[in-house]
Amino acid sequence: MDAGKTTLASLTVRQLDDKLKTLLRLRAARHGRSMEDEVRVILREAAAQADRSAGERFAPAAHPKAQAPSSAAESGPRIVLIIGGGIAAYKSLDLIRRLQERGARLRCILTAAARHFVTQLAVGALSGSQPFTELFDPQSEFDVGHIRLAREADLIVVAPATADLLAKMAGGHADDLATAVLLATDKPILIAPAMNPQMWVAKATARNLAQLAADGVGVVGPNFGEMAERGEAGLGRMAEPLEIVAAVEGLLRRGATLAGKRIVVTSGPTHEPIDPVRFIANRSSGKQGHAIAGAAAAAGGEVILVSGPVNLPDPPGVTVVRVETARQMFEAVEKTLPTDVAIFAAAVADWRAESPSASKIKKRTGGTPTLKLMENPDILASIAHRKTARPRLVIGFAAETDDVVVNARAKLTQKGCDWIVANDVSPESGIMGGDSNTVHLVTASGVESWPPQAKDRVAHLLVERIAAALDGAER
Ligand code: C5P
Repeated sequence: MDAGKTTLASLTVRQLDDKLKTLLRLRAARHGRSMEDEVRVILREAAAQADRSAGERFAPAAHPKAQAPSSAAESGPRIVLIIGGGIAAYKSLDLIRRLQERGARLRCILTAAARHFVTQLAVGALSGSQPFTELFDPQSEFDVGHIRLAREADLIVVAPATADLLAKMAGGHADDLATAVLLATDKPILIAPAMNPQMWVAKATARNLAQLAADGVGVVGPNFGEMAERGEAGLGRMAEPLEIVAAVEGLLRRGATLAGKRIVVTSGPTHEPIDPVRFIANRSSGKQGHAIAGAAAAAGGEVILVSGPVNLPDPPGVTVVRVETARQMFEAVEKTLPTDVAIFAAAVADWRAESPSASKIKKRTGGTPTLKLMENPDILASIAHRKTARPRLVIGFAAETDDVVVNARAKLTQKGCDWIVANDVSPESGIMGGDSNTVHLVTASGVESWPPQAKDRVAHLLVERIAAALDGAER
């Protein structure tokens, strides 16, 4: 039913009895609506409820697959759309339509701030059901509670995601319906940030975004363009509805794309002992490798992360094997075989001390000790050149300070791997130890240069590409 087209002009509230009129007046006052509008909402809710009951559009979360879907409306993804309070909220009305066109079953939540920009009526009319606004609404029979809203969804989309909403999400606040649902969900979350460019580049926003990325929240946009404020332009415009739809589709597809696949990932630096207290190391933080392991696990893969010494939490759902040296890393990787995919993101020390001292080397007058180095095993090349149990897809990383792509191409051949993810790690790039990365994906068929983005997003994109490759789409 398209509630927006319902004609209610002839409805006369006067004909109701006094008790009903009083109840109606109270309810209308509570929602800040006229009594006529309240009646319209009640009728619309009733129609939507009838619609839901007839089609079981919001199937119980416990057995979503047990039901035989009979149409897209019954089997389409269940999406909770949280509309935040920004001028871009008007684009969310179009987003509702675009998502529905693709069979999504929507429930909408409006934050208090959002209600300054779009009305409940407009959202209700477009989505075909009453939007949710209150954390506790015992008066309403449509109050399903934040836990059910959080659970009865395949995906939660926040559009527009304001700077304030991002901060609340990053801090784990739950003082209104939107944030309570976001905190209570175990489903993927996609945010479409929209804010003034200055707010977007603010350090606090960057911190919050990094936290959200680390928490596995997907981000689409913002785009560059004109702002609502006259004469202002910059990065901060909400992504267009169709871009958000594409991101939603990507996220939903990602659900279990690596299910049944075994993936080994190396990450972090290695420490090569010189003596019991000194070692050779490098500046690798392990952020990119850990993010890849987490993204692969989130995509349903069985992931073993062989990690050098890092200061990072274990990514959820990943088996972590901790090592110190390159040789230990090599041994640990070999033990994981056979795997479908091997991703070598670790910054393995190329050399180790030939004979590490068993006791601390003392400072002596009249001479410095000479450190004789020897080469470490090249784990990537060894695994890529294996005759037996070679993973189907072997991916290496190339951290370069000059001629990034040229060197990466050469490395692809030298190491015998299938893909190289190359990045510029010159000190001015800020990549080593930082949260964002600019990578080039070098394969036999060419080079793809990805825009600068959070390491977490690089990880998700890479996982999507891996899933597509294993599906036979490419290699
Ligand atoms: O030769 P280079 O160190 O630049 O190669 C980088 C790639 O090779 C990375 O994927 C890294 O994890 C891998 N590598 C390795 N074992 C080594 C050295 C590098 O697996 N000993």
